Amino acid sequence: MHLTDDPRAASAALAAGHLAAVPTETVYGLGARADDPHAVARVYAAKGRPADHPLIVHVRDADAAWQWADSVPGYARDLAARHWPGPLTLVLQRSVRAGDFVTGGQGTVAVRVPSHPLFRAVLDALADLTGDPAIGVAAPSANRFGRVSPTTAQHVVDELGPLLSDDDVVLDGGSSDVGVESTIVDCTGDAPVILRPGRVSADDVVAATGMVLGDHSPVRAPGTLAAHYAPAARVVVVDAGDVTTTLSNSDDMINDDARTGLLALADVPTPAGIVRLAAPTTADDYARVLYSALREADALQLTRVIAVSPSPDGVGAAVADRLRRAAAS
Ligand code: TXA
Ligand code: MG
Repeated sequence: MHLTDDPRAASAALAAGHLAAVPTETVYGLGARADDPHAVARVYAAKGRPADHPLIVHVRDADAAWQWADSVPGYARDLAARHWPGPLTLVLQRSVRAGDFVTGGQGTVAVRVPSHPLFRAVLDALADLTGDPAIGVAAPSANRFGRVSPTTAQHVVDELGPLLSDDDVVLDGGSSDVGVESTIVDCTGDAPVILRPGRVSADDVVAATGMVLGDHSPVRAPGTLAAHYAPAARVVVVDAGDVTTTLSNSDDMINDDARTGLLALADVPTPAGIVRLAAPTTADDYARVLYSALREADALQLTRVIAVSPSPDGVGAAVADRLRRAAAS
């Protein structure tokens, strides 16, 4: 495995059928050419991910994205025009380009145009190398299945380094700016349905499309339902006023000798004797530090993380969603 900040090293590795972990504005992805079944199979193996969990295909621009889809409703085009490049993934009926090995055998494909400049440089160079302007990079978050997503190259090296081969590349593009995974919108029905909350909020989707959101989707998005995003420490989500009572709760016998960390907005004080993992001042800040704070809890060998969610406005809804799933694990 080769750690570099040169996007050409990543595009060359991808073109040759190797893997490249790439920075995105949301979290780091573990990428493979989306038209190469062997490379994609290695992504599943490195992650330990079940084969029926589909991957997001990352492309240069909307024109490339539509090549992977069979029919694109007007509201999906509106979303793309407003939020691409950016932290938004659209689920569409797939075209013949999208093989079963990428879609988990589903009739739909998830596509996204990322905004991180290094990843964009990788996609441009890969298009040149392959002569295919619509070339896609299939990339799940670059973590072991069910664990915390990586927001730095070092997270990827720590977690997946030993599982990568000599020809694979980890591209260092600094810390991810958004910090939580992209908003996924199902665009296969009459109205958009949010399958996974992210930085692009429900209000943003309404504003871009002028439509009322659907609340039910027939589309299966494995990984969005199950317990997920879990550190080794046990996560407990509480209201700001309940931090102290949770600490002293004697029903929770396991916690008598628990080494506990606190994750909450800065206005929530830290009780004596517990580790403050992060004190973000806004929901955007909270999203940005969330996953490194959960990793820090494990590095400090804490047994428990008490987390107070931000209010569910904007990216706050996504932070609350990830904490809820971390706590369900
Ligand atoms: O921000 C992100 O989306 C990051 C970066 C790397 O782009 N990627 C990411 O990928 O979070 P992953 O594989 O960890 O999560 C993708 C989610 C999964 O829950 C998967 O089930 C869902 O997208 N998904 C992928 N293809 C789908 C499809 N055709 N239909 C429904 N859900 C799909
Ligand atoms: Mg993931």
